[in-house]
Amino acid sequence: MQETCIWIHSKSDQTGLYLTLLFLFPPFPMLWIKSLHIIAVISWMAAILYMPRLFVYHSMSEDRESRERFKVMERKLMRGIMTPAMIATLVFGLWLWLGYNFKGGWLHAKLALVVLLMAFHMWCAATIKKLARDEIPHGHVFYRWMNELPAVAMIIIVILVVVKPF
Ligand code: HEM
Repeated sequence: MQETCIWIHSKSDQTGLYLTLLFLFPPFPMLWIKSLHIIAVISWMAAILYMPRLFVYHSMSEDRESRERFKVMERKLMRGIMTPAMIATLVFGLWLWLGYNFKGGWLHAKLALVVLLMAFHMWCAATIKKLARDEIPHGHVFYRWMNELPAVAMIIIVILVVVKPF
């Protein structure tokens, strides 16, 4: 009886150890890195698509209270989600590219669009600073149009990565 208990204990210990090792050293690390890349991409895109929407409502707001609220929302979205998600996207994307020998024209075209998305990210950061000083550089129509740019870049990037047309 005691022997059976010891056997059961050591069996469950082994399972725990096996699961821990599986988590720490997954058999398909590339797929884990790709999953983290996609999670980071989703977070970055969610924030980068929402930020110009905030600029639209901010530039339309007329009372002080609403403007102050938009300032807080913009700053928190940038610092809490947008910038960390961009960094994670780049780290895991570069890890995939350099670590697993992906190549092709699609990758170069994708990287060019990623540079444009990063430039858009910087533009958002600069706009947040201006709005925080109560400068409203553009009207809401301009920000509505700016909202379309990251959406177009994202659609082309996903098609390039999945279809790999060249
Ligand atoms: C420095 C920036 C980036 C690099 C170096 C990079 C690199 C890569 C690489 C090498 C892959 C694997 C491709 C494959 O499985 O065939 C990948 C997957 C992917 N990337 Fe990126 N990426 C970057 C940024 C982005 C951005 C900004 C987006 C979206 C806007 C994006 C979306 C995706 C998606 C959706 C996948 C999954 C494709 C699939 O599994 O079929 N990446 N990336």
